[in-house]
Amino acid sequence: MKLDLQLDAFSLVGIDAWTPGEGDLALGIDAVRDTVAAHDIPAVAGNLVCDGKAPFPAARTVTRGGVTVGFIGVIDPTLLGDGLSGCTATDPVLAVRTAVSEHPGVVHWVLLHHGDEADDAALAREVPAIGLVVNGHARISRPEARPLPAGAVGLAAASRGKSVGIADVTFVPGAQPGVYSGGDDGARTASQLERYRKRLQTADKALEQAADDEARTRAQRQVDFYGERVKALEEEQAATEASALGTGVGHQVGLAHVQLGKDIDEHAPTMAKVEAALERISALEAAHEAPATRPGLAYVGTDACLGCHADQHAQWTATPHARAWNSLVAEHRERDRACFQCHSTGAFDPAGPTHPMLVTGSLQGVGCESCHGAGKTHVATQAAADIVRDPPQATCVQCHDGEQDEGRFDWDAYRPKVVHGASGD
Ligand code: HEC
Ligand code: HEC
Ligand code: HEC
Ligand code: HEC
Repeated sequence: MKLDLQLDAFSLVGIDAWTPGEGDLALGIDAVRDTVAAHDIPAVAGNLVCDGKAPFPAARTVTRGGVTVGFIGVIDPTLLGDGLSGCTATDPVLAVRTAVSEHPGVVHWVLLHHGDEADDAALAREVPAIGLVVNGHARISRPEARPLPAGAVGLAAASRGKSVGIADVTFVPGAQPGVYSGGDDGARTASQLERYRKRLQTADKALEQAADDEARTRAQRQVDFYGERVKALEEEQAATEASALGTGVGHQVGLAHVQLGKDIDEHAPTMAKVEAALERISALEAAHEAPATRPGLAYVGTDACLGCHADQHAQWTATPHARAWNSLVAEHRERDRACFQCHSTGAFDPAGPTHPMLVTGSLQGVGCESCHGAGKTHVATQAAADIVRDPPQATCVQCHDGEQDEGRFDWDAYRPKVVHGASGD
């Protein structure tokens, strides 16, 4: 339903190219092909092979204002493992080279890449005809164009559709095809690299000191995440040094990420489709039995703490944690299983609400027990021993996992914002 809605909305907006990723292919190639056909989506996939055949053309060209632009799509073969729904992917570089050689009239090539951002550079280096690489796999927003080898530029999608990236390309007469100027001068990369190296050190330390398997897994995830970021940024830095960016020989490209905040009006025809999809979900939900409620839920909800800890409650109410459920409601995502865990209380714990429909009353939002642990026993005994007094960083990074929060979490800066102040009882 998500794919259907997405492609429906894309066709409404009007797009020139789209490449399926591993999340789409997990639905099965028939479902992807049917949905693509239903919404007349110009899919391109240069290296995808499903049941022995290429399900989509490798590339397509579009001519605007006398300039012919080509679009190629590739997916990183490792994302499909030994095969996903009968699909595998061949060598991306070879596929891109072939597609380029088959379309001699194209002046500018845009590569849609489902794969590690670090591999953008290799693709640009191996196929110099590529001018722009749009990475649909980046997990953090990159508000600037990123210099790649051979005069190419990398653009990255941000996570969760929270913003629209606008690449503004000005074709400069006489400039070399596929060579661009723009992006930053490397200062931003350098400062980001420094920040991520520090985070990696902290995560390494946390891994060394991890007390149990759970803490180890979490720390490992952080180490992996920041390790990847550092690697990508180091490659980027090397590419900047090796590229012709900033010398003025290329076409001009700039990237802007427009945050889709409340100050931007909803697109009524798209919203109508979202509402229709939500209605279909409701109908399906009604047809299914609600998950068994758990009478023994160990999480009692924030309201149960208010009577005895009014000061802490007053302070908490003013934090974004209190509004976390409303943030989902505002985006019509409160029933989305991909979202509810971090925007509610106790959902990581099998003794808590394990399904969005079990998140009721004051379990909605990141409540007291998200940090202090299940409170049922403590409410009964009022004993300090039955509750966590000072939640450690490991509790926070279940949700502030470096991925969903785009790497913003910083223990030293974030903790003071959630402690309840000197007036605590
Ligand atoms: C009926 C009153 C009551 C309710 C309800 C209650 N508490 Fe407490 N809480 C206490 C008392 C009393 C103490 C102090 C215990 C002590 O120092 O021995 C305490 C202490 C705490 C502490 C500090 C523990 C420590 O080691 O110093 C935390 C954290 C806490 N409560 C969280 C909660 C949370 C979360 C809830 C709701 C799930 C809650 N409390 C509900 C009475 C209550
Ligand atoms: C159950 C998940 C969860 C846990 C556990 C959690 N957070 Fe959060 N946190 C969130 C969510 C979700 C938001 C965003 C809420 C919103 O705006 O909708 C948030 C927002 C914040 C913010 C506000 C960020 C900003 O400036 O916008 C701070 C600060 C913060 N958390 C600190 C912490 C700290 C420190 C801990 C651990 C002691 C922690 N959080 C534990 C989910 C969690
Ligand atoms: C792994 C935990 C996690 C999951 C899953 C998660 N979020 Fe969040 N979300 C967070 C945290 C942490 C923040 C606060 C980030 C910060 O400001 O530092 C946040 C913030 C937000 C915010 C408010 C601030 C903002 O950045 O706009 C919205 C809205 C939001 N999330 C929506 C969603 C939606 C929709 C989903 C499901 C697609 C989702 N979240 C899934 C952890 C999560
Ligand atoms: C985002 C995590 C977080 C949330 C949510 C949270 N707390 Fe706390 N709480 C802390 C931290 C961290 C401390 C330790 C503060 C310290 O030692 O200075 C703390 C300490 C406490 C204490 C000990 C006394 C004090 O004030 O330091 C009580 C009682 C308490 N919290 C109750 C609550 C209640 C009640 C709620 C919900 C209304 C709540 N907390 C929500 C993180 C949280």
